[in-house]
Amino acid sequence: GADVEVDISGIQVGQLIRVMWRSKPVWIVRRPAAMLEALGKHEDQLKDPSSENPQQPEYAKNQYRSIKEEYLVLVGICTHLGCSPQHLSNGAFSQYAEGVQDGFFCPCHGSKFDMAGRVFQNVPAGLNLQVPPYNFIDDNTLLIG
Ligand code: FES
Repeated sequence: GADVEVDISGIQVGQLIRVMWRSKPVWIVRRPAAMLEALGKHEDQLKDPSSENPQQPEYAKNQYRSIKEEYLVLVGICTHLGCSPQHLSNGAFSQYAEGVQDGFFCPCHGSKFDMAGRVFQNVPAGLNLQVPPYNFIDDNTLLIG
């Protein structure tokens, strides 16, 4: 079928894994507490910090854009013209957004997204990265689709 079952029990805190879902890359990030806290500190730099845009599941309409705060699940495709953004961590992202340590940078035209997939201002992408439909079958298993 089109749904993808992912064993998340081996994902370390801070780690990003990539899976394919309907020919699209999907990222799953296990976010550390400090990263979750940092999400609240740069909302003035974002286009749609509260994820008001309706093109996403209801459960993504919060600051963390996720069902469980710890696990970020995103379609890894830039909402501008479909390139694949790079994950920049441990301070590498701060060259693109003042005071923001981690995020995603699209090399095609410079769009920038935070660790909830929320798009920054002054870039060509208009929408936050897409949150796919998903749910947790149990504590160790995620179902995408
Ligand atoms: Fe990502 Fe244009 S495709 S910025």
